[in-house]
Amino acid sequence: MAELRNYLEGRPNAILFLYGPKSSGKTTLMYRLFDRIEEEKGYEINFLNLREVFLASYDDFIDAFFKSADTDSAFKTGTRRQYSLFGLFKLDAFTERMLKKKQEDPFLVMKREFQRLQKKNILPVIIIDEFHKLDGLYMPDKQKRLMVELMNFFVAMTKESHLCHVIIASSDAFFIEQVYVDTKLRKTSKFMKLDYLKKEDVLFWLGDIKRHNKVQEYSLTEEQIEAIWQTVGGSVWEIHFILEELFQRPLDEIITKMKREKVAMIADWVDYDDIEERRNLLAEFNAHNPIDRRQLTGLRNLLGQAVKDNILYYDPVEGEYGVQGKSLEWGIKEYF
Ligand SMILES: Nc1ncnc2c1ncn2[C@@H]1O[C@H](COP(=O)(O)OP(=O)(O)OP(=O)(O)O)[C@@H](O)[C@H]1O
Ligand SMILES: [Mg+2]
Repeated sequence: MAELRNYLEGRPNAILFLYGPKSSGKTTLMYRLFDRIEEEKGYEINFLNLREVFLASYDDFIDAFFKSADTDSAFKTGTRRQYSLFGLFKLDAFTERMLKKKQEDPFLVMKREFQRLQKKNILPVIIIDEFHKLDGLYMPDKQKRLMVELMNFFVAMTKESHLCHVIIASSDAFFIEQVYVDTKLRKTSKFMKLDYLKKEDVLFWLGDIKRHNKVQEYSLTEEQIEAIWQTVGGSVWEIHFILEELFQRPLDEIITKMKREKVAMIADWVDYDDIEERRNLLAEFNAHNPIDRRQLTGLRNLLGQAVKDNILYYDPVEGEYGVQGKSLEWGIKEYF
């Protein structure tokens, strides 16, 4: 939160990319940021979670990003969180019609909106979650990729015109890599990694679940906490899963079952035409984790598949591949 704050308090100068392994809390953090600064004067914060949006065409993009002011009030009642339900920009009905008929340039519409807010001393903050979902969409002339155009537009709005802040979150490592290898984008962007919790935070949390989770029925011994850490590390989502299971069954049983599931996941993943390559790759990660990308040459396609299938993660800033989470490390270890 402090790092994000720091970014927002500066003059807009770069796009901020928030990345990190699956379920590390990127979306949760964005929602939290939204809640905190929504009420503050001086910012106009817009949150768009593309995971919740159906995107198959350019028209879907227009629907997601823009909505007319008239339809707004009709939906507002009873809706607590507008930001995940509506487009980013509120327009008058005329502009909306022009946009839909493709007689108005969406980038100009956005820029006009930013300039209007600037005159009122308001700084727009655009947050887009799951940005990679725009991949595969094209501009109406079918020549240009929408995602690339939008990214160039955001570079112009941040680094060149300083008109708005842009935060983009994505767990798609290949999308982040694409951005990172594009020198122009790399130089005009900041990268922030949201990783799993550190051990001290897990110990702090699990040492007092009565306070942190309002659990009265049981508490955890030091050995149990250590066993949980050894099994899933700082993966909040999995720790939460274990805490819920503990109402039903003992920890040993939960841990054994989790590890077995991960072994099955690895066995499934390995069993393809290229089984030997897959097995060799995982054997390397069984021996070393993470691995510097310079030591993994010639494996681009397979590594890409492993990342897509949530077996490995890729960190473009560190330049390394690693196993997606501690529980999966167990899966690999016990598979072999
Ligand atoms: N630091 C945290 N504090 C509280 N809950 C967390 C935290 N990190 C993750 N969670 C919980 O873990 C789950 C996954 O979090 P979230 O969806 O925010 O992760 P993500 O990084 O956006 O995942 P994805 O890679 O799938 O987009 C949620 O149920 C969330 O409540
Ligand atoms: Mg997310």
